[in-house]
Order: sequence, then structure tokens, then C-alpha cells
Amino acid sequence: MRKPIKGFSKLSKLDKIEWIAATYFTDADAAKHAITQYWNTDQKLQQLHDEFIENTITNYYLPFGVAPNFLINGKLYTIPMAIEESSVVAAASKAAKFWLNRGGFKSTVISTTKNGQVHFMYQGDFDKLQQFFKAVKPKLIEDSQHITKSMKKRGGGILDIKLIDKSEHLKDYYQLHATFETLDAMGANFINSCLEQFAKTFKTEALHFDDFSEAESRIQIVMSILSNYVPDCLVRVEVSCPVEDLSEDQSITAKEFAHKFVQAVKIAEIEPYRAVTHNKGIMNGIDAVVLATGNDFRAVEAGVHAYASRNGSYSSLSHAEIVDEVFTFWMEIPLALGTVGGLTNLHPLVKVALEMLDQPTAKELMQIVAAAGLAQNFAALRSLTTTGIQEGHMKMHLMNMLNQQHATNNEKEIIIAHFKNNTVTHSAVETALSNLRRMRND
Ligand code: MEV
Repeated sequence: MRKPIKGFSKLSKLDKIEWIAATYFTDADAAKHAITQYWNTDQKLQQLHDEFIENTITNYYLPFGVAPNFLINGKLYTIPMAIEESSVVAAASKAAKFWLNRGGFKSTVISTTKNGQVHFMYQGDFDKLQQFFKAVKPKLIEDSQHITKSMKKRGGGILDIKLIDKSEHLKDYYQLHATFETLDAMGANFINSCLEQFAKTFKTEALHFDDFSEAESRIQIVMSILSNYVPDCLVRVEVSCPVEDLSEDQSITAKEFAHKFVQAVKIAEIEPYRAVTHNKGIMNGIDAVVLATGNDFRAVEAGVHAYASRNGSYSSLSHAEIVDEVFTFWMEIPLALGTVGGLTNLHPLVKVALEMLDQPTAKELMQIVAAAGLAQNFAALRSLTTTGIQEGHMKMHLMNMLNQQHATNNEKEIIIAHFKNNTVTHSAVETALSNLRRMRND
């Protein structure tokens, strides 16, 4: 039986690997090799990665690809994407190329407000709490000046703090709901530091508020934390063209395609089973750029899906319509992103990604990320409503299958050529490869 290990984090990297290999693997040497083969030979670079997190034992590679020809607000971008799914970059590139000659992507940042809450319990009269809040609010802001000073100088900072009564939903529960402008920073540390300071001041000042009874003065702070639900940090992106210009695929007329496409979007608007997959396609594009640019994709995911359910039922993030024979496809999504601070100053590939994007402001990055999401959704719906998704998917997956079969470069070339005009399936690839190998051995 395995025993828990004490002081694991204090072990050296090699000792950690030794212990893992000996404890969990039948072939400890093979495991050690699999883990250490990804170490970077540049010691400094490796140390940088080791220190991003606790207990690093190696690096986990993801492909870093690029999707060129993205015309966004009249400017051409090559978009960096970090993702493992084989068809995503190809689909983004295809959609970018499609819209390049049809006006490109138009994107506008609607708002950039972020928020966070001090969650607390208060037993007493709400009017008195309101009076206390009114009296203490200037001090909440004043006491956090040491945190907000430089952000304020650059034009950001605390926008407002409101007292919210939540006691109807949970006995004695109230919050300070604060709003922030964090400019080019994602702002998580800034917001959390401000909130913790508000909590400290709020609790201390309550003890001395004359109108409070003894019980009322003992406010219990439960927690202070930013919210990843950012419905007021919103970007809109759209593509639009006359219906007749949509034609490219010979198997379907432009008009037929436009109507089928709008139907597909409307299905995702009213059917949660479809909406989840539809939005997953959008997130294929969004997460890949968010990750490549060193942003927090978990925060973005959580916020986006909450937004997709804001009307009480999970629904499509994107929308489409045909008005006066003009096709328009658009979405509004919440994106709290940063182009300074965090990993953006540290990870060498994040620096490459940001430079490739011309060192965007956070607002520009919101526009780029949203365009990548809409492009991905367009590409998916275009395949789904015409050829079906598997044709493209399996073609892209072919390389993975060939690698699984340990195909040589020459074998890959021959098999890929063969599948240009044949349907890709697992068994078809296996058969083609074994036929090729048999022919060569004969
Ligand atoms: C696959 O990663 C994403 C799609 O399923 C999205 C969609 O169905 O719209 C193709």
C-alpha cells in the first residue's frame, strides 16, 4: 500500500522525479526519460519555467501555431494560437482568408469594467449598515491609495463601491461590490489587494461606529475576491457581406448556405445541448489566443459561459441574420485580458506572441481574441452546414494517426497524397499504411 509523502515540495527536482518514477511506474527508467526529455538545455530558461509553479518536474509542450490574414478593423494580423486540437488553426486561417476579401472583422470594445466583492455577514438593522457604509466609503478609497496610486496616475483605479443587501437569499449576507478600471492589466492582483484593504478598513471602522450596537459592530468578513464574471468588460465582433458574396462552395448556393447558417445559429440560441458545443467551437479560437498571450483561460472560460447563461438558459454566444440580402454574423463576449503584468513580462513565447500582435493594448487584444473566436465559429458552422465536420477533422487528424503508427516521413507523404481523394477513417489509414509497408517488403 502506498504511503503519503512528507516534505515533497522540499525535495530537489531530481528526487521528486525519482520518487514519482519509483512509486507509480513499472518501468522507472522509461518514466524518468519521458519526463526529463522535455527539460530545456538552457538552464536559465528552465529555471524560469520551474519557478512559475510549485513542484515543477518538466515542461508540458503544446503546439504554438499561427493563423495569418486576419483583417481586424482594417489592420492585418497573424494570430498566435497555443492548442493541441488538430483542426483549430487550419479552421481559423481558412475563415480569416474567407473574410479577408469580404471586409474582414469589425470589432468594438463596449466596456472595460471589472469587479470584485467583499462578502460579509452582518447581524442587525440594514438602515444602520447603510449609514455606516455612507460614512466609511471615502475612507475605504483613501486607505487603498497606496495600492491604487500608480494605476490612478495611468487613468485607472477604483470606479465605485456599492453596498448590496443579499440577506433575502442568505441570512445576514451582504457585500461590498466594487468596480475597477485596470487598463492594460488583467488586474487580478490589483483588484484583490484593493478588496482586502476595503475589508480591513470596513471591519475596523465598524467597531467604532457610534450607531452600531455591540452585535452590529462585529462584522464578519467571509472573503474578498475579484469576480471572473465580467459582463461589463465586453467586446463585440462582427463580419458582414451581401449574401451573394458568400458563395465559394460549389455544392450549395450562397443563398442556401446563408439561410442554413442562420438556422444553425438559431438552433444554438434556443437549444442548450447544441449551444454548449457551438460555444465550445468559439472557445477553441478564444482559448488558443488567450493561452498564447499568457492570459488566464480558466477565468475567461468561467466568465464567458456564465455570460452565455445570463438570461436563465444556456445559449449561443453568437448570432446571425440576413437583412435586405446582407448576411451579418456577430457576437458580444466578456473578456478580461491583460497585455502587461503576469506571464506577459516573463514567458518568452508570450513576449513573441505579443510582439507578433504589435504589442496590443488590452482593448486591442480583446478585439483580436473575439475575432479568433468568431472565425472559429464561422469555420465550424460552415463545415457543419455543408460538407459535415468529419471531412476536415479527419484530414487534420491524419497526421496524429500516422504518428501513432510510427510512420516515416516518406510514408506520411505517400499516405497523405492517397487521402487527398479518399475518406479518412482509422481503419482506412491502418490498411493503407500496412498495404504500403507490405508492398515495400514484397
Ligand atoms: C470541435 O472542437 C468544435 C465543434 O464541435 C464546434 C461546433 O460544433 O460548432 C466543431
